Amino acid sequence: MTKVPQINRIQRDHSAERAVPEGEENPYLLGVYAPVGTEIDADDLEVIGEIPRDLNGVYLRNGPNRRFAAPGRYHWFDGDGMIHGLHFENGRARYMNRWVRTAAFDAETAAGHALWSGVMEDPKGNPFGNGHGLGIKDSANTDVVFFNGRVLPTWYLCGTPMSLDPLSLRTIGAETFLGTLAGDFMAHPKVDEATGELFWFDYGPEPPYLRYGIVGPAGVVEHVAEIDLPAPRLPHDMAITENHAILMDLPLVQDQEARRQGRYRIHFDRELPSRFAVLPRRGDNSSVRWFEARPGYIYHVVNAWEEGHEIVMDVCRVKDPQHQPRISHPLARMLAYLRLDAQLWRYRFDLRTGTTTEGPRDDDNTEFPMIDSRVTGRRNRFGYAVHIAREDTLLFDGLVRYDLHTGERQDHRFGPGRWGSEAPFAPRDGGTAEDDGYLVSFVHDEREDRSEVVVLDAADLGAGPVCRILLPQRVPTGFHSCWIRAEQLEQAR
Ligand SMILES: [Fe+2]
Repeated sequence: MTKVPQINRIQRDHSAERAVPEGEENPYLLGVYAPVGTEIDADDLEVIGEIPRDLNGVYLRNGPNRRFAAPGRYHWFDGDGMIHGLHFENGRARYMNRWVRTAAFDAETAAGHALWSGVMEDPKGNPFGNGHGLGIKDSANTDVVFFNGRVLPTWYLCGTPMSLDPLSLRTIGAETFLGTLAGDFMAHPKVDEATGELFWFDYGPEPPYLRYGIVGPAGVVEHVAEIDLPAPRLPHDMAITENHAILMDLPLVQDQEARRQGRYRIHFDRELPSRFAVLPRRGDNSSVRWFEARPGYIYHVVNAWEEGHEIVMDVCRVKDPQHQPRISHPLARMLAYLRLDAQLWRYRFDLRTGTTTEGPRDDDNTEFPMIDSRVTGRRNRFGYAVHIAREDTLLFDGLVRYDLHTGERQDHRFGPGRWGSEAPFAPRDGGTAEDDGYLVSFVHDEREDRSEVVVLDAADLGAGPVCRILLPQRVPTGFHSCWIRAEQLEQAR
């Protein structure tokens, strides 16, 4: 293995990075979660097996990776966004990682130390927050979305989407869609690759509590609608179908009493139903049809589509959003919130009768769902997800493939002490079937303290890795990912 000289190395005091208040050994700063302090480019990587020559494109994954330790308690979600990428080309692979240069990251870099406290501390004194007056640092650490030739890192509490070059991961700046974006942007916008549109929403603590919009193929905002909600909500994801958008009003709410005291706390209200707004893509509040369902919380949508007079939506539905701490730890509450317990769940919204039917498709704890991005909003047969490990912290011990037509499930486990990442579907060059391609995941081997990228045959997870690409740097456990096909990169050039 040849390590390429490390470039853009940022000098940091690692001992200070690891410092946590006494009695608060924060597991999300240790081991597989510990931030990395360097930005590197590396090619000529050691490969176990052979990288398929028909796998061409870029795998990107975002996640929290703080640069400067802030005073007070650290929450995993506080870390600055860092993108780890693997560029596959003709049987070779190149790794690189870069922080997202948000306004806050640049300000802290200029200062040489942290200027923001984390979400578990009082935000008073933080230089600035998001457009809704939430004084928390917008770190752009949550998702990474490819749209119109650019990579857009996003933030889970609604912030400024950033714009990166997909190959160099250089931050170009804030993405304003040619000056047409007013307000903030949620973590998981949806791209319809057939129409070239991007669908997003923005939410906040003051009316309008929810705004929904579309960026057109020319890269400017073409449609914005304010959607009425009874009170502030914390939606995380949305869905599209060929003709509709689906937004959520779920009974996980920000504690208003805590908010008045300047703190950020959320709670689950079991007395309220889950509500889903189905509206025409270019519709507004007057064209919304609301569908009610059992109280619950949903982080992530698998996909949605239309079937006759019904809208079908598959999601990962959280089994118990109450988040009761089950362990004794100074950070038990945070750890309980971060533990994710979800299951594959299907909703059917009947546009003729206005009724909802819902139920589980699997009992197991799977999340971070992916599909072939080209079938977003159209009926898909296959869905892929990570399997959540039975650990106190959030770790992914395997990948799962669901055949939504037959109900068949395939599994791959990374192995003892090996933890993976959200794994996008990467179509094989010239592939025609929906599952004709690969799943790509960063995996960190705790026992060998080494990270790698594992490539699996998406049609046969049980066969084990097609290849393993060993990396010269640890890739901490993180959040969301995307796959950019070579032809998309070509168009971007
Ligand atoms: Fe998410």
